[in-house]
Amino acid sequence: MRQAKAVIDKQNVVGPIDKRIYGSFIEHLGRAVYGGIFEPGHPQADASGFREDVIGLVKELDVPIIRYPGGNFVSGYNWEDGIGPAEKRPCRLELAWFSLETNRFGTDEFAAWAKKAGAEPMLAVNLGTRGPDAARNLVEYCNHPGGTYWSDLRKSNGHVDPHNIKVWCLGNEMDGEWQIGHKTADEYGRIACETAKVMKWVDPTIELVACGSSGIGMSTFPDWEKTILKHTYTHVDYVSLHTYYGNHENDTANFLAKPVNMDRFIKTVASVCDAVKAKKRGKKDIRLSFDEWNVWYHSNLPDSKVPRWQEAPPLLEDIYNMEDALVVGLMLIVLINNADRVKMACIAQIVNVIAPIMTETGGACRRQTIFYPFKHASMFGRGAALKVNIDCSRYDTKETPAVSYVDAAAVLSEDCRSLTIFAVNRDLKEECVFTCGLRSLGDVSVSEHIVLADDDLKAANTKAAPERIRPVKASSVKKGILEARLPKASWNVIRLSLA
Ligand code: AHR
Repeated sequence: MRQAKAVIDKQNVVGPIDKRIYGSFIEHLGRAVYGGIFEPGHPQADASGFREDVIGLVKELDVPIIRYPGGNFVSGYNWEDGIGPAEKRPCRLELAWFSLETNRFGTDEFAAWAKKAGAEPMLAVNLGTRGPDAARNLVEYCNHPGGTYWSDLRKSNGHVDPHNIKVWCLGNEMDGEWQIGHKTADEYGRIACETAKVMKWVDPTIELVACGSSGIGMSTFPDWEKTILKHTYTHVDYVSLHTYYGNHENDTANFLAKPVNMDRFIKTVASVCDAVKAKKRGKKDIRLSFDEWNVWYHSNLPDSKVPRWQEAPPLLEDIYNMEDALVVGLMLIVLINNADRVKMACIAQIVNVIAPIMTETGGACRRQTIFYPFKHASMFGRGAALKVNIDCSRYDTKETPAVSYVDAAAVLSEDCRSLTIFAVNRDLKEECVFTCGLRSLGDVSVSEHIVLADDDLKAANTKAAPERIRPVKASSVKKGILEARLPKASWNVIRLSLA
């Protein structure tokens, strides 16, 4: 049987966890908005058309912040189309996803929805087809108390109090050729700088996220970060990172190793930020916003067959299986282990579109497999991240050498009364005995061990079997000391009470 030996020391702290690393994302894409969070006429819809069943699951995930309205969508979006009387809003050709956008849902609806879901809204501005003028007007519309053209328009649209949106993204994936209004690093750096300046002049309390690379594999990475920060360092607070993984070649050992790359991505971006800070003789650290991450590949082929110019077509509707939940768990472990630098992150997305929640239009909603690791991390992963030193055997894949069979993260709760260890056993054949030295934490007792595992790694939660994969309580933990059996290919949440 495989062994993993870990040591966790109370003094060896990675950093405080910003709860916003458990954020998510809603784009005007497919059935994320229409048929996802917003479906007037649905039996579970409230008077505003917000699906209460979906809100219930979002609350179960306890998502602290949600990014909106894109994504690629934002780079062609006129935010003014989505305000005012719904029947007067224009219907447009939407060029990011080749759909029809009716604009029945817009900024004010999103702010109201986020409030109801208990999440802070995070808005992106269009730096593809637009620039500083539209962005500063949007900040004025959302955040200025009143007495000006845009703030009074918000009031006359029925929103007397400002939305007070704190976090703003300066465009989306501007390094990508697929992006409407794609730019070189210098072009983006200049427009992002000028946009940031005027947005903060309208509201100096806001925080801004500059677009980093849309993936570690981009040919412009990491020069992109260096150049854009050269232009924007003074005005921005975060730089973004995006990553999606897939198992196109059905090589599960390799798929489970991919999050190692996410860790390298974070560390490289942090180094570039520090290098720019040094060059600028700057005082502030640029923080990281990993504002799109997930597994995404199941829907690639079906999406290529969806006809253009439909309203809310079924796009990016990945049905996640057990091995995808393990990858999501591993990505969460990477985020927690980099909590000193990653201060926001958004699983992309929240409903229907590459999402932990799936709905049937007019019907029920369900939890996908990836719902569970996200829920566990969001529930139990708040406090301080402690370093986990693991001694465990390793394996090589065709892309990643020396991958540890077990990866883990540990979180000391804010009240210091409990410690939660999140661990994934990547071994596809054997269970692993996980022992952990916790001497610095005093008397500890294991309060529970939750496991998500299944013999069939391709098993999923479907409309016909919505609860095929769900967590169970394990009974294999020895009382008093930490010795747990991690089943083969499993996600584990081990909760300890501290005296
Ligand atoms: O989340 C889906 C898409 O992935 C987003 O629109 C884009 O930013 C990324 O490429």
